[in-house]
Formats: sequence, C-alpha cells, structure tokens
Amino acid sequence: MPLCGNSIFLAAPSGNLSRRTRKVDMSDPIRFFLPGPTWVRPDVREAMTAPSIGHRSPEFKALYASLEPRLRQVFRTEGEVLMASGSATLVMEAAVISTVGERVLNLTCGAFSERWHAVSKAVGKEAEQVAVPWGRAMDPELVRQALRRGRYDVVTTVHNETSTGVLNPLREIARAVREESDALVLVDTVSSLAGAPVETDAWGLDIVLASVQKALAMPSGLTVAAFSERAARQAETVEHRGFYTDLLRYRDKHRAGGTITTPAIPVVYAMDRQLDVILEEGMEARWERHRALRDRTAEWAGPRGFVYASEAGHRSPTVSCLEPPEGTAAPDLVQALRERGWTVGGGYGAWKSRTFRIGHMGEVRPADLDRLLATIDNLVAAES
Ligand SMILES: Cc1ncc(COP(=O)(O)O)c(C=O)c1O
Repeated sequence: MPLCGNSIFLAAPSGNLSRRTRKVDMSDPIRFFLPGPTWVRPDVREAMTAPSIGHRSPEFKALYASLEPRLRQVFRTEGEVLMASGSATLVMEAAVISTVGERVLNLTCGAFSERWHAVSKAVGKEAEQVAVPWGRAMDPELVRQALRRGRYDVVTTVHNETSTGVLNPLREIARAVREESDALVLVDTVSSLAGAPVETDAWGLDIVLASVQKALAMPSGLTVAAFSERAARQAETVEHRGFYTDLLRYRDKHRAGGTITTPAIPVVYAMDRQLDVILEEGMEARWERHRALRDRTAEWAGPRGFVYASEAGHRSPTVSCLEPPEGTAAPDLVQALRERGWTVGGGYGAWKSRTFRIGHMGEVRPADLDRLLATIDNLVAAES
C-alpha cells in the first residue's frame, strides 16, 4: 500500500472483486479513546461499501480463504481460526456450550471474566469460580490449588480485563492448567489480541476468541476464534451443542470455505483491509506501540496525581483505568471531554463513579494520546 504524506491510496478488498484506488486522508487526529469499539481507519470503513456478494459465491469463498492465513499470524497458531457473526459474548457462550460436559472453572478478576461465569451458569453448567478482587491479576498459584481440589472439563479466563485495566499472566495461567489437569483453556482476548502478545500454540491455548472492534480496530459485527484440535475432540463428546452455538458446525462450514449462516459481509471486507494494515505494521511492532502507549500514560499520570486502579506489574497495554486526583470526579471529567469532542471510557460497573478508562488500543498513535492527555491537563487546570 503506497504511502503519500498523510494519505494512502486505497484499494478495494481482495478476492476476485474489481480493484479501485483512491486517496484517503489519514491526517485526522484520533479523538476517540473508548476501550472498544475503537477508532477505525477511513480506508477500512470505506472497504465496507464494496458491492454485495453471496456468502456461498466463489467470490466470497476466495475472500474468506484469504483471511485465515493472516488470522493465523495474528493468533500465532497453525490451527484453525473460525469466524462468527455476532459479538464476543456469543462465542463465549458457544464455547462453553460446545466444550463443557459438566464442570467448568471460571477465573475472575473483573466484569468480563465474571461474564464467563454468568454465561456458564446461564447455560446450566456446574460452574465454580476462583476470584481475585477487581484491580488484581489472577494468580496462577490459585489456579493450581483449585485444580488440585477438583476436576474440570474447562478453565475460562480473560487475558485483558477491560473493566479494570489488568493484563493477566496468561502464559503462566495456561501452564498451570496444563500441568495440573486435562482441562481445556478458553481465553477471552477481546481487548488484547493485536495489542499484546497472544501465543495461541506456544502457550497451549484451546479456544482464543476476540470480537473485532477492540485492538483489532475493525467495525463491530464479527468475532474470530482459534479452535484447537483438542477442543474439537472434546466437543465431539458433548451432546446438545445447540445450532448457532455449535463450534463443530462452525468448524465444518469453515472447512467447506465459509460461515454457518449469512455473515456480516461488510465487516468481512473491512477485515480484509485491516488485516493487511496489522500485518504491515507487524505483530511485534504493534505490541511494542501499545506498550509504549501504556508507558506514556503512566509517565503522564503519576506526577499529576492520577492513580491506577490496576495492580502494578500487570497494567494493560491497551486500556488504562485511572482514578482522577482529589477534587476531580471521574464522570465529570468524562463528560467535560465529551463536550469538547473527545471520547474516553467511563468506569465500568461497580467502578463507574470512581474511575475512567483511556482506551489506547487499535490504531491510536503516540501523538493522538499526547493530544488527549494535554486536553485533560487543560481541563483539570481550568477546574483548579
Ligand atoms: C474483555 C472483554 N470481554 C468481552 C467483552 C464483550 O464483548 P462483546 O461486546 O463483543 O460481546 C468485552 C467488551 O468490552 C471485553 O472488553
């Protein structure tokens, strides 16, 4: 993709579709810092306007087939990567229904890891929880102890807990599960995939899922999921996996070159473009950019009295969850920014009034973050 100052020349999605090129202005500063959905590049948005095609057509099959080799690079897997039309919660539910025979252990440390527990109970599984307080990272030692006490078909965890800004030690958690049991490891990487290292194969992860509207920086509507052979074998032993929730059905349709039902085709077009953007940057470079955004936020926050709600040593590279200094209420700060055309995330759930969250994931560049932080400085100075 040729670069030209702040512009790029846009090509229409690949596959067998006719290619168009036109200039896209990339100079607009990002003012949207939600921890998902995130800002989407103009060329990726534009890709969604390609003409309709049938989802069983040769054109779609070619487009779909072109995605998996790139998705494998993002997930760092040699295995299969499935696609569902729907948000991550659908695939969390599908994963539990498809793989848990009876018992599941949910590791929780905030609102989204607790969602695994809520989903597991809602579909009638025998669900137990290892919980650490919000703001703390899951301790792999607690996982070991729980697995020595009981037998589970599956262990669920979140990699990046978006509600608290904690990045869990996923490699160590997965190692603990593998060393102590035969349980599958199901991981929500919704706000970490393409923003922090996720090594599906090297870390022995069985189902790794992410909706695409977070660090992948695509428009919402799809969820992608790496699906291991082990997970498939276990699913074969589970009865009543539903229809729209049966991951083996997704896997079979995937092998036939498509999706189980009509997918969100415009978002597939967007994915086609954005995967190139991600891989042109390179996974390591992308992880490094996110780490730098986290560090920049931390350097800014400390001297100004913004306090992290997340445990030191486990702070997320994609979202910073902060308490403002004395005298500034988090919801007021979020609102004042909104009135000036800037979007940040409010606190989540029980932390709504105490914290706010800066989503620095996806396509956010250091200069964008600096402009946001300077705006917050001005607001706080004007108040005092
Ligand atoms: C870590 C995490 N898991 C799950 C979800 C739910 O994702 P979705 O809205 O795509 O179902 C979110 C949404 O913010 C999230 O941050």
